[in-house]
Amino acid sequence: MARDVNDQLTKYLTDAHSIEEQALQQLRRAPAIAGDPAIAKAFEDHRAETQMHERTVRELLHARGATPNVVKDVAMRAGGVGFLLFARLQPDSTGKLLAHAHSYEALEFAAYELLARAADLVSDESVAEAARRIAGQEHAMQERLAGLFDAAVDASLRELDDDARRGRILKYLSDAHAIEAQAIQLLERGPKLADDERLAQAYEEHLAETRDQQELVEARLHELGGRTNALKDAALRLGALNWGLFFAAHPDTPGKLAAFAYAFEHLEIAAYELLKRTAARAGDEQTVGVAETILEQERAAASRIELLFDRAAAASLEAVGAR
Ligand SMILES: [Fe+2]
Ligand SMILES: [Fe+2]
Ligand SMILES: [Fe+2]
Repeated sequence: MARDVNDQLTKYLTDAHSIEEQALQQLRRAPAIAGDPAIAKAFEDHRAETQMHERTVRELLHARGATPNVVKDVAMRAGGVGFLLFARLQPDSTGKLLAHAHSYEALEFAAYELLARAADLVSDESVAEAARRIAGQEHAMQERLAGLFDAAVDASLRELDDDARRGRILKYLSDAHAIEAQAIQLLERGPKLADDERLAQAYEEHLAETRDQQELVEARLHELGGRTNALKDAALRLGALNWGLFFAAHPDTPGKLAAFAYAFEHLEIAAYELLKRTAARAGDEQTVGVAETILEQERAAASRIELLFDRAAAASLEAVGAR
């Protein structure tokens, strides 16, 4: 039995290694397309940290007689490039890049928090200690990125006249609508995959909120004269992001689902932080109000999931028969 749990811990380390490989790929290119010196510097600084994370995880794998999963790493690296290509294709790539990076750091944080809990369960102190240390650095990076929302909005709005700024609000609203559509898809599957009563309940309750959020966003979009076409366009644009595919490739455990849902909440948080600031700069207080209402719910959902990481880690090991 203990052996199964150890195999599972090795598998989690392999996953963590893939995540770091993808992070490195993204961070190699991110500074050049950041569009703002402070944001570029945050990416550059985190690249050195990420190199250390990759090495730490690789050494932990070697200590267990395992090697990083090369095939999977290659696939993940390709995904990383796609992620950045997506950001570059957008007219306001600074905001998009920041939103996705904010979400990615949340994914890393959650992955290491879950890894630490799995290590606790098999009393592997060296993995638990490394995972907690790295989780702290991922979280700090996420906070640094959260401190750069203003800079991102400034960079995005620079050189735009009033009309174009108003157009930007419409675009953010239609993007938000598409993000909520993805959230609904994710949360509809959540309760079945959660393998834990309280996690299932958290997903279910946030699903109801998410449907309301989508309506709120749509209503505001229509008040501002946005077209339904804009909604379709946004859905297509977000298709490139493909969180759905990312998830389909990693469907295995309640822990992955929790980490993914937690990261998704942080994508939403970033999207609404950017919308809120863009609307505020255009004097659109109603849209600011919509963004604030939704932001509160996204933050609460993220905290609720984080508080259930213990249960997610335990449910994951049970789901693979390792406990
Ligand atoms: Fe990171
Ligand atoms: Fe949402
Ligand atoms: Fe959400």
